[in-house]
Amino acid sequence: MKVTVFGTGYVGLVQGAVLADVGHDVICVDVDAAKVAALQAGHIPIHEPGLEPLVQANQAAGRLRFTTDAAQGVAHGELIFLAVGTPPDEDGSADLQHVLAVARTIATHMTEPKTIVNKSTVPVGTADKVADTVRKVLETRGVALAFEVVSNPEFLKEGAAVADCKRPDRIVIGTRAPQAERQLRELYAPFNRNHDRIVMMDVRSAELTKYAANAMLATKISFINEMANLAEQLGADIEDVRRGLGSDPRIGYHFIYPGVGYGGSCFPKDVKALIHTAQSIGFTPDLLLAVESRNDAQRQLLARRIIAHYGGNLRGKTIAVWGLAFKPETDDMREAPSRYLLQSLWAAGAQVRAHDPAAMDEARRIFGERDDLVLCGSPTEALEGADALAIVTEWKIFRVPDFAQMAHALHDRMVFDGRNLYDPETITRFGLGYVSIGRAPAVGRS
Ligand code: UDX
Repeated sequence: MKVTVFGTGYVGLVQGAVLADVGHDVICVDVDAAKVAALQAGHIPIHEPGLEPLVQANQAAGRLRFTTDAAQGVAHGELIFLAVGTPPDEDGSADLQHVLAVARTIATHMTEPKTIVNKSTVPVGTADKVADTVRKVLETRGVALAFEVVSNPEFLKEGAAVADCKRPDRIVIGTRAPQAERQLRELYAPFNRNHDRIVMMDVRSAELTKYAANAMLATKISFINEMANLAEQLGADIEDVRRGLGSDPRIGYHFIYPGVGYGGSCFPKDVKALIHTAQSIGFTPDLLLAVESRNDAQRQLLARRIIAHYGGNLRGKTIAVWGLAFKPETDDMREAPSRYLLQSLWAAGAQVRAHDPAAMDEARRIFGERDDLVLCGSPTEALEGADALAIVTEWKIFRVPDFAQMAHALHDRMVFDGRNLYDPETITRFGLGYVSIGRAPAVGRS
């Protein structure tokens, strides 16, 4: 099928490449000329396992093209995907300007019926707004053309985006139009073998499903973080509690890892946007408000503990930080807990020596040159001359460090672990003080 994807961010680029890979003829459109030029040359602007070879192979096969030419994009696709960003507005609501701008572009250039498929995470009611926008432009042009707006949310995880997109758990399609349903079923047929993953519903339900899924996962995380804080106060070990909880299949092992709070481009933004949607119709989302405030507190926890350990002042102290990306296997630092940690450490007067296996360029871009930050080429280099270590992201390379060397390198022999990577008994045997999340006894607990 002929498919056009507007937006070459995580969602659009991965979706475009994966659709091309099963034989569809895909054009990806972006307004960013530099990005399009890089993509045309086979360079991928993001760190995402498996994406570069996938894009290059499908480009070489002529099934995947990149352009800034919106008119060409609109002419090409019988299905036109919207995969542009929906950044949070000041009040936390999703900013729809890019989505609606693409809607206007489509309506301006279309000369035959189109099915517009929204992949961006957008508030309930956005499909109606897109339809209104298209209708108005068509009226102004004085042309009568049929079109449908479908909601087809994306559930991919960064770091596993290609695999998630190739093997979706479910394919949610929000439309009641039989022709659009037929088109999407045909499009996704290669991903829907063995058993039926397609869940058909109306467009508003599909829009809400995406928010509900992310809000549910964020709730699990805030729940376990609350239990972790409680476990410490009660002298229990959250890691044992987690295993005991997860073994119940109704609860499951996923998304009950305690830590430094959820980050990334989705959970914080989507929970906020859903709260905003609810409040805008006079509904008080008590549970979501609690999920968010627990997360706000959790993001400050590691810094609070380090600062408390040093009596409220970090002047003259150097803290090594392992992990800057919001999670492993990505260079994405959007809403990363590391950013909150670094700001607090700096505010308390600390120097920081940081390492991340993928996000060093991103960190350089975000923080620029600063006297109180040294970006180091390896985890061990970050420890050199440091007083204590803070762990923020659970990259594999941090899991089995040389504890003897760590104890030797860190002046104050303190490890503040925001991801519970180590067995407390093992690490303390090397003479290291160890503060983790939800595990008693916690040395230097605030
Ligand atoms: C998420 C959803 O998983 C995905 O389905 C949706 O399409 C987009 O949002 P992503 O943001 O890529 O994906 O990351 P995810 O792996 O879900 O992690 C989100 C955050 O939660 C990370 O900061 C992670 O560290 C944190 N997390 C996750 C925990 O703190 N504990 C857990 O048990 C799981």
